[in-house]
Amino acid sequence: MKAIILSGGKGTRLRPLTYTGAKQLVPVANKPILWYGIESIVAAGITEIGIIISPETGGEVKAKTGDGSRFGANITYILQDKPLGLAHAVKVAQPFLGDSPFVMYLGDNLVESELDLFINKFKTKHLDALTLLCEVENPTAFGVAKVDNQGKVLQLIEKPKNPPSNLALVGVYLFSPTIHQAIANIKPSARRELEITDAIQYLIDVQKNVDSFRLQGWWLDTGKKDDLLAANQIILDSCLELTIEGEIDAPSKISGRVHIGAGTKIINSTIRGPVTIGDNCHIENCFIGPYSSIANETTLIDADVEHSVILQGAKVINIHQRIVDSLIGERAQLKPAPKRPKALRFMIGDDSQIELV
Ligand code: G1P
Repeated sequence: MKAIILSGGKGTRLRPLTYTGAKQLVPVANKPILWYGIESIVAAGITEIGIIISPETGGEVKAKTGDGSRFGANITYILQDKPLGLAHAVKVAQPFLGDSPFVMYLGDNLVESELDLFINKFKTKHLDALTLLCEVENPTAFGVAKVDNQGKVLQLIEKPKNPPSNLALVGVYLFSPTIHQAIANIKPSARRELEITDAIQYLIDVQKNVDSFRLQGWWLDTGKKDDLLAANQIILDSCLELTIEGEIDAPSKISGRVHIGAGTKIINSTIRGPVTIGDNCHIENCFIGPYSSIANETTLIDADVEHSVILQGAKVINIHQRIVDSLIGERAQLKPAPKRPKALRFMIGDDSQIELV
C-alpha cells in the first residue's frame, strides 16, 4: 500500500499566516501539522509516500520535510500546478501510485485513531473506497454522507446547503486503483474543481464496494485559527511529556507537563503545563499558562500568555494583560501598552508589528 498527502492549496482561512507559508507547516505543539500525518502513515507500516505540493508553497514543504529519512519513509514530491481539486491531485499522482491501493490524507487534518483500524477494514472487505465519517455541528462546511442503518454510504454531497446528516467526510480516505477510472469519468464541480466526493459517488453509482468507518476519537481540520488552537490543546493534552533541556533559574516555578527546549532560558517566570517551549527562547518575568506552544527563538518578557500558539522568532514584551486564544505569527512583535485595555484577542500574521499606543 502507498500513501499520498495533499499539501497544496491556498490556506485562505488561515490568512494572514498563509500569505507567507504553507498551512500544512503551521505548527501544532511546535511540530508542523503535516508531520503528524506522515508519522501516522509510517506507524501503519506504509513507507512509500507521495506529497502533493503547489508551486507557491511546495519549496518550503520540501525543504522542511526532506526526503522522508527522518520519518523512516521514502517521500516523493508531486507538483500539482493548479488547485483543481482533490480528485485532480489523485490524477496528478497516478504515475506515482501505479496500480497500488492507497491512503489519501489531507495535510491539514489530524485524526486520533490509528490508521491500522481503517486499513484492516479496507483489506478484509476488499473495498474500492473507505471513507471516514465524523459527527459535526456544522456539516455545511464539509462533504456530507447519507448512510443507511448499516452505515453503508448511499450518497455523498460536497458542502450541502441542506445536509442529509451531520456526518462529515474526514480528510482521510482509502482507495483501490478503481478510483482512477472514477476520476476519469467525473466533471468539474460548480467551484471548477474535480471533487473526490464526486469520484466516490461515481463508485457508489456503478455498484463498487464503498464503505465507511465512523470515527470515535477526535478529528481536527486545522484550517482556521480556533481549530488550530483546539488541535494544539488536544495534542498537548495527549502527547506531551515533561522534558527540560534548557535552564530554569531558582525563582521560576514549573508545574505540570512542560517541555523546555535546549538553549532556552526561563527567568523569574511561572510555567503551568501543558506547555511546550522550543529551543533558544528567552522567557523572563512571564506567566505561561496551559495549552500554550511557544516556538524556537521566541522572546517573551513581562508577558502573560495562555491557550495560545506563538510562532518562531516572535517577541512579546511588556504586555500585562493576559494574551489568550491567540495565534501570533513568525517574527511578529507586540510592544508595551501605556494604558490597560480590558482584553486583547489576536490573530497576527508573520512579520506584523503591533504597538498599542
Ligand atoms: C475537503 C473535502 C471535504 C472534506 C474536508 C475535510 O474540503 O472536499 O469533503 O469534508 O476536506 O477536511 P476542503 O477542506 O477542501 O474545503
